[in-house]
Amino acid sequence: MKDADEPGSAKKHKPNFHHSFPAHGSQSSPRGNTFDALRKAKQALPIFPARRTLINQIRRLASAIVIGETGSGKTTQIPQYLLESEVNKGSIIAITQPRRVAAITVAQRVAQEMGSTAGGIVGYCVRFEDVTAPNTKLKFMTDGMLLREAILDPNLTRYSIVMLDEAHERTIHTDVLFGVVKAAQRHRLKTGQPQLKIVVMSATMDVDHFSKYFNNAPVLYLEGRQFPIQVMHVKEPQSDYLFASLVTLFQIHKEAPAGEDVLIFLTGQEEIDSAVRSILDLSRDLNDCPKLQVFPLYAALPSHEQIKVFNKTLPGHRKVVVATNIAETSITIHGIKYVIDSGMVKAKVYHPLSGLDLLKVVTASRAQVLQRTGRAGREAPGICYRLFTEAQFKAMDVNTVPEIQRCNLASVVLQLMAMGISNVLSFDFMNKPAPESINAALEELVLLGALERQPDSEMLKLTPVGKQMAAFPLDPRFSKVILLAKDFGCLEEVLSIVSILSVDSVLLNSSKKRLQAGQAHEKFKSSEGDHIMLLNIYRAYKQVNGNKSWCYENYIVARNMNTAQQVRRQLREICVRQQMEISSCGRETTAIRRCLAVGLFMNAAELSKDGEFMTLTTRKQVSIHPSSCLFQNKPACVVYTELVKTSKTYMRTLSVVDPDWLMEAAPAYFRRKRASAIT
Ligand code: CDP
Ligand code: MG
Repeated sequence: MKDADEPGSAKKHKPNFHHSFPAHGSQSSPRGNTFDALRKAKQALPIFPARRTLINQIRRLASAIVIGETGSGKTTQIPQYLLESEVNKGSIIAITQPRRVAAITVAQRVAQEMGSTAGGIVGYCVRFEDVTAPNTKLKFMTDGMLLREAILDPNLTRYSIVMLDEAHERTIHTDVLFGVVKAAQRHRLKTGQPQLKIVVMSATMDVDHFSKYFNNAPVLYLEGRQFPIQVMHVKEPQSDYLFASLVTLFQIHKEAPAGEDVLIFLTGQEEIDSAVRSILDLSRDLNDCPKLQVFPLYAALPSHEQIKVFNKTLPGHRKVVVATNIAETSITIHGIKYVIDSGMVKAKVYHPLSGLDLLKVVTASRAQVLQRTGRAGREAPGICYRLFTEAQFKAMDVNTVPEIQRCNLASVVLQLMAMGISNVLSFDFMNKPAPESINAALEELVLLGALERQPDSEMLKLTPVGKQMAAFPLDPRFSKVILLAKDFGCLEEVLSIVSILSVDSVLLNSSKKRLQAGQAHEKFKSSEGDHIMLLNIYRAYKQVNGNKSWCYENYIVARNMNTAQQVRRQLREICVRQQMEISSCGRETTAIRRCLAVGLFMNAAELSKDGEFMTLTTRKQVSIHPSSCLFQNKPACVVYTELVKTSKTYMRTLSVVDPDWLMEAAPAYFRRKRASAIT
């Protein structure tokens, strides 16, 4: 991606839209925060008049599918209706969300509407954070968390109703959950246990497919509230959507009155942060325009930052939200009148050669684009500027391919096996993943020692190691590293490293202060690699007791370090529960790298004669990411945490390892892979 610092330079043209810009009307959205105002707002929602019918239908049905436009009130209202009418019969209602932020913000909103705060009747549960109480009845949770609960309780006995929200997103966890919840419902019926109701909620989606899968469940449609939206495509394909989005924004900004807010869809954190900076820089020189309030919005942004986009725009200002697809359906932002859509999205793509998921910017689907457009017409008529041509729109895929058909499945396969589903290939998936990806996941788990072949049969079964691995909410490779660390006597250290890897970057990396930050980080660097560098940071942080000004001076993100510490506490608890001895290796860090080598043996690369790296097993060329401590002095052999593809394929977060450690980890694997790479 190009740097967006200088729009207007180069030979670029203003994106030219097919329609002229319309005149701008004024618009207001009354909103208050008092309980009374909230009650009025609830009653004004499109879902309110339908509530009786909805409750009666859901009471009667075992499974139902509720379809309604974003903002109609599905997520916040239906759980409350069901609770008020006691459809849940005293048990807990689980409402799953694909995204952590949505689970948290929606729970807070619903608690507020019920005159309380999250952590009482209304609670939420996301990875590494459980804000529920014994009296919690509405439990908002990520689909990943419900899946983890299903390992211990496959029949989900604590719940009377499971609401699978944002089903159209089809994340890997949602898809697995579909099958798990459906099996639980059937099993409870067969064994005479209380009914498990399934309510699937979604914006627009392939309704027939869903209904058929859930035993021909009836579909309940909600009247949406949708004002007319004018859609405009560019006339010519744009070579740089980031640049085009800025030009379009400032065209709007020069003409539209204050209070008419703009939502821009881009693809990822770095791009969004850079766009936000450019917008702020460019707006500084403008006179006669409303003041801008610019907010980034992406999943990795800490929740207290994300929540800022919900605030009412200040008088005389214009709000600009620059978001990923997170703002497509799961979050409602007030005041949006204009949508600028890049037509692009960052998606996980399975990289069969490394077995890793690669994040890549790809064209969005038509379904996504339509959702984005809809965001402009929630409160008043709106306009959507598409930075792609009508022909490009028509060439887009109609629906997004479900994640389960394009991601590494090792983690979910391990979870299914831990739930006692031994034949994953015949699991009742709504869309079956390719058998090759299931087999690749099974092979990976066998190599990690989580599964083994049963004597005299082809069936695989969970080993005691696999059972232990499934207890950690981590990628199986890192669960393995933790188990190994116990044997190698460096569990304390490995817990610190894995915790930091589980949160967003702790190294502050703003482009303005890159030089100073780099200098400050110098002292943490290690010739052994980035994992040991992370350990050094953790140790230094502990030594100053998490002192905030120390973090500031050292360009360390205090908030993320704090989160890492909480994650560490929870991982440590799991270790203690599993009766693992918690030992430390002190200053002798070789053992740590050995654990990493054995757990990450599939992500290994060696230096070749031409100075580039080759992955050990598949002989693909990869490079060390410039942010790594090993960028200057290239070692002979490394393991990496992830691959990032931009102009080249980069390995990120690496450690120096001895090739012999890798061979010891999986001799048969390397012999076989080498043989197939040569032929
Ligand atoms: O789930 P659905 O998209 O149908 O709607 P919802 O999330 O239940 O939101 C219904 C309404 O509640 C939105 O239109 C917002 O006005 C409001 N809401 C809010 O103000 N703040 C939140 N965090 C969530 C919802
Ligand atoms: Mg919703």
